[in-house]
Amino acid sequence: MGKMLNMVVDESGIGVVTIDSPGSKVNIWSLEAFEDFRRLLSELEIAKGIRGVVFISGKADNFLAGADLKMIAQIEDEAEAQKVLELFHRAFERLLAMGLPTVAAIHGHCLGGGLEFALACTARIAREGKATCFNFPEGSLGLLPGGGGTQRLPRLIGAGAVELILKGTSLTAAQALELGIIDRLVPAEGDLLGEARAFCEAIGAGTAELKRPVHDFSGIDAVAEAARSEFLKGTRGREIPGPLLALQAIGEGVKLPLREGLELEKQLFVKAVLTPEAKGSIHSFFLKGMTDRPQAMMSEGFVPLPLEKVAVLGFGTMGRGIVIDILRNTRLPVLVKDVPEALEPGKAFVRKILAGMAEKNRLREPVDTVLGRLTMTSEYAPVFGELDLVIEAVFEDLTVKKQVYGELSRVIREDCIVASNTSSIPITAMAPFVTAPARFGGTHFFSPVWLMQLVEVIRGETTAAATIDQLLHFASLIRKRPIVCSDNAGFVVNAMLFPHLLNALQYIEEGNAIEEVDRAMTRFGMPVGPIRLTDEVGIDVPYKALVGMGIPQETLKKVVAAGRFGLKKSGKGFFLKDGTVDPEVLPLIARREPHPRSEEEIQLGILTAMVRMGKDLLDRQIVADVRMIDAGMIWGIGFPADKGGPMKWADLIGLSRKLFGRNFY
Ligand code: NAI
Repeated sequence: MGKMLNMVVDESGIGVVTIDSPGSKVNIWSLEAFEDFRRLLSELEIAKGIRGVVFISGKADNFLAGADLKMIAQIEDEAEAQKVLELFHRAFERLLAMGLPTVAAIHGHCLGGGLEFALACTARIAREGKATCFNFPEGSLGLLPGGGGTQRLPRLIGAGAVELILKGTSLTAAQALELGIIDRLVPAEGDLLGEARAFCEAIGAGTAELKRPVHDFSGIDAVAEAARSEFLKGTRGREIPGPLLALQAIGEGVKLPLREGLELEKQLFVKAVLTPEAKGSIHSFFLKGMTDRPQAMMSEGFVPLPLEKVAVLGFGTMGRGIVIDILRNTRLPVLVKDVPEALEPGKAFVRKILAGMAEKNRLREPVDTVLGRLTMTSEYAPVFGELDLVIEAVFEDLTVKKQVYGELSRVIREDCIVASNTSSIPITAMAPFVTAPARFGGTHFFSPVWLMQLVEVIRGETTAAATIDQLLHFASLIRKRPIVCSDNAGFVVNAMLFPHLLNALQYIEEGNAIEEVDRAMTRFGMPVGPIRLTDEVGIDVPYKALVGMGIPQETLKKVVAAGRFGLKKSGKGFFLKDGTVDPEVLPLIARREPHPRSEEEIQLGILTAMVRMGKDLLDRQIVADVRMIDAGMIWGIGFPADKGGPMKWADLIGLSRKLFGRNFY
């Protein structure tokens, strides 16, 4: 493998080091990168006549994206954590010890450990551009900057560093200049290298003005405290160690000499990196990567078929959402079919949502241009023969679906792919209704579609692998995070939610208050408690699904029989408008022998039931890969990302070993 760092020294004695990790799209600090950096330092130490060094990236849109997260994820104990940290600190110290002016010439992403390196240089110059950004993403990974970021950034720009590090705010080059993170700005079409070289020479000659104000940190404790309470508001009181330790590193570190501040940062980093929150967050980062680029889930060598025209059947809740996501994320023309009276209201709704997006600058084109790609019909017109893909989102009724597929099959081409958005009818049961069962599968979206990132791609018994591949391709075109599973009651996400609800109801029947059970789960990090979730979805929905599975849950039965389908759905459910539990629902709880539980017992009980269901999905090969379950739960229901998904969480806290004698990962 070639070298990552290549130096050329010009006639004026400025060494230009090009950072270009061979065979990789981005530059990152990996073990090999550090090894190469040590080689470069040795080269620099013996070289004669060098008057300064400029570091510039050889990549199109990336300076240095930070540390190799695989390297960070593998850290298992303090000694290993120290070893990784020393890689950064020794390299930066050795460079600084040479006393040469060093300039980071930045275009593209300058993140985390990459930004820490830039901060360790004498000065920074950046070229404006779409991809040029400065950011410490460590907090979102349950970590804190450990290569000097928590010490060098506040010393350079003052207390404003607290917010940047805690929130992981992404800055443009112009913003970085304004804050004093970089010293100079080159326009997008400017000569970054030429300017950087001249800047480096000027620094060496003492003619460049560098603003290095001495900041007053007497108010830092108050800033840190305010940032802490704001952070805890965002997590609803959950203390995620990494970001909070970052606050401590800044607050205490800036009062010490730099060297001691760096030591403090190292100690706190070691603490953070070993927490389950860091490991869970890094795991979620990799799951995100997997669902961002679902190519890895497709069969080897799969080449997507041309996708030029798409149709959606049904312009109700789900059909509208699916249409919105196709229109805003692709340039594909979309045909939608429903009864005549459903068409204009559907379009008006789509327009309203798109206009809201445009207002927030989240739409790439004007609303009318986007809507111009939508055509509506109430007939199976000849244009159906031009379709490459049809998504069906009509009523959840087998007879209706059968009729729809029968009519559709007469007008589409044989190679057109058809997918159902059904939430409960097996794909295998509907496959006989289409002419080409191999080209029929499921795409189970979540509501509201344009806000929920997940789609479950469902393989029926007759679905061909190429159909799944093509549906994954479609999912990525419309920017969904797909997972793949086989037919199953509730597929993955709802299947995992059944035990979550059943256990919650059991605990209520055994004496815990509804509020206690819901609070236990929101304190764990779920966006809503199980009972509130049921109320919002419609209480009859899980009730019917459970009856279908042979589980006639007693409390749900009574609540549904009382006409309480949920506050939104029928005006009455478990809760009142003000958010409190409706006292009228209490007599409907099917009381059992009292056995109230503590908050931890509720959490562990509900999560254990979910993890057992996850194991069952794996054992029955509903999913081929445990990552599908964790990704599904994070992006389908909002399972806390810092826990890495239920299955990873079970591994991290030792539950998997306790229950099954082994880890899932
Ligand atoms: P909906 O009742 O809001 O919309 C269904 C639409 O289908 C209506 O506009 C209706 O006029 C239309 N329709 C009925 N027969 C038709 C036909 N022969 N040709 C064309 N259009 C026809 O229902 P919703 O909620 O959008 O559900 C659609 C599908 O998505 C169902 O299979 C449902 O199980 C599934 N689903 C629903 C979710 C939800 O949260 N609502 C979540 C995930 C899946």
